[in-house]
Amino acid sequence: MGGIVRVSVTLPEDLLKEFDEVINRMGYGNRSKAVQDAVRLFISERKWLQEESGIQAGVLMLLYDHEVRGVEDTLTDIQHNYADIISSTMHIHLTERDCLEAIAVKGEAEKIRRLSDELSSKRGVKLLKTVIVSI
Ligand code: NI
Repeated sequence: MGGIVRVSVTLPEDLLKEFDEVINRMGYGNRSKAVQDAVRLFISERKWLQEESGIQAGVLMLLYDHEVRGVEDTLTDIQHNYADIISSTMHIHLTERDCLEAIAVKGEAEKIRRLSDELSSKRGVKLLKTVIVSI
C-alpha cells in the first residue's frame, strides 16, 4: 500500500465546472476523492480491455469536437487503417460542435485495443467508451 501523492494537473475550465457539478450532486465532500474514483474507473475499464485476448466484438463510442482542426480527417484515416475489423460506423451530429460515432468492431482483441487507443488519444476527442463482448 503506497502513501498519498499530491499531483497538479491542468483542466479546461468547463470540464472542471461540469465535474464539480456532477460530484456535488452525488454528494462528494471533496474533489480529491472524486478524482480518485474517476481514475480508478478509467483504470478498470482500460485494464479490462488490455487483458482480453482472442476474437472480440463490440462498439466504440466516440465523442469529439468536429471544429478542432483536422480531427475528422485524422479519425477517418485511422478508421481506414482498421477497415478489416470495422463493420460499420454510425455518425450522429449531436450539437453544433459535438459528433458521436458508434464504430462496430469485430476482430482480435489486440487490434481493437490499438484502434481504441489511437482514437482516444487524438486532440478533439472528448470521450471514448468501449463496449466489448467476448465471442
Ligand atoms: Ni457530425
